[in-house]
Amino acid sequence: MKVLITGGCGFIGSHTCVELQNAGFDVVIADDLSNSKAEVVDRIEQITNKRPEFIKANLSDKEECKKVFEACGKDIVGVINFAAFKAVGESMTKPIEYYKNNLGILLNVLDNMRQYGVSYFVQSSSCTVYGEPDSLPIKETSPVKDATSPYGHTKQIAEQMLGFITSASDIKAIALRYFNPIGAHESALIGELPNGVPNNLLPFITQTAAGIRKELRVFGNDYPTPDGTCIRDYIHVVDLAKAHVVAMKRMIEHKNKKDLEFFNIGTGHGYSVLQIINSFEKTTGEKLNWSFADRRAGDIIQIWADTTFAKEELGWQAKEDIDSMTLSAWKWQQRLDEKK
Ligand code: WQD
Repeated sequence: MKVLITGGCGFIGSHTCVELQNAGFDVVIADDLSNSKAEVVDRIEQITNKRPEFIKANLSDKEECKKVFEACGKDIVGVINFAAFKAVGESMTKPIEYYKNNLGILLNVLDNMRQYGVSYFVQSSSCTVYGEPDSLPIKETSPVKDATSPYGHTKQIAEQMLGFITSASDIKAIALRYFNPIGAHESALIGELPNGVPNNLLPFITQTAAGIRKELRVFGNDYPTPDGTCIRDYIHVVDLAKAHVVAMKRMIEHKNKKDLEFFNIGTGHGYSVLQIINSFEKTTGEKLNWSFADRRAGDIIQIWADTTFAKEELGWQAKEDIDSMTLSAWKWQQRLDEKK
């Protein structure tokens, strides 16, 4: 069976391609390479000995999206949709681009799925939809708060659109609400490739340790948490990738119980920024240069997932621990630096 992965050259998309191929699926990747590199296709082939088909396309363009489905629409059983702009800070300064791109891709892909009779859709969603939780751990039934960025808003709107579209069509969907994906495949052949200065914690840590960045600034040490720094549910990107395979198989095997289902994809454990730094230094033996700085606007204090529903209903749970996440991120950074 064949699956289309939009944004499949990206961080989570490439790892999902590997896990889909490992599970026996064939894969077509459609990616505009605006935030990824075509050589990722070679790396995936190196890992699995199966080369995914690759189509360079800007799926927010109706004609380009149509061409992708003309090429593969009759052969695919489902679509996993990663293609989106995803920088929270950038979205604050470019809201129109974010709404046009992220929602335009979603609508073009779903419209072509309908035309080609493709039924199963996995949406890349985010714990960002919850905002600052009222209680923890956070459940799928916890209230979705008003978005605090256009990026987060596009994730919320996408979920709402999927509700109406799946009710009115033969398309079934599962939205996976990611917590904080970090780490890299054990081969260190694929991983996170941030453009420019990283926004996210782990790439900034690994680039600091590699000497690319001078110092990591820890944004805030006066939060109401045990050590004063923010807490997040970090999840190994390979565990996250495997969740997409399970979600797609759930629909193919008609085990889904609603037209649209939501699952929290986290580990259920929260770690503070300082705990991540400690894990990194412990697993790598590197001494990290860091200092406290002011809080970052828009950061929530703490969040971690209630993973009961994903475990019981989806039959999935994260396996990798925090140390394997930080070490794999470092091995990936070291390989990136060797290539330079
Ligand atoms: C984690 C913690 C920072 C950088 C974002 C998106 C979310 C998802 C994951 C896409 C926070 C602290 C960070 C630094 C720091 N992205 N930090 N110094 O903000 O939880 O989530 O990325 O889907 O939607 O919102 O992740 O890695 O940016 O920050 O102290 O240089 O690390 O303050 O507490 P975040 P992050």
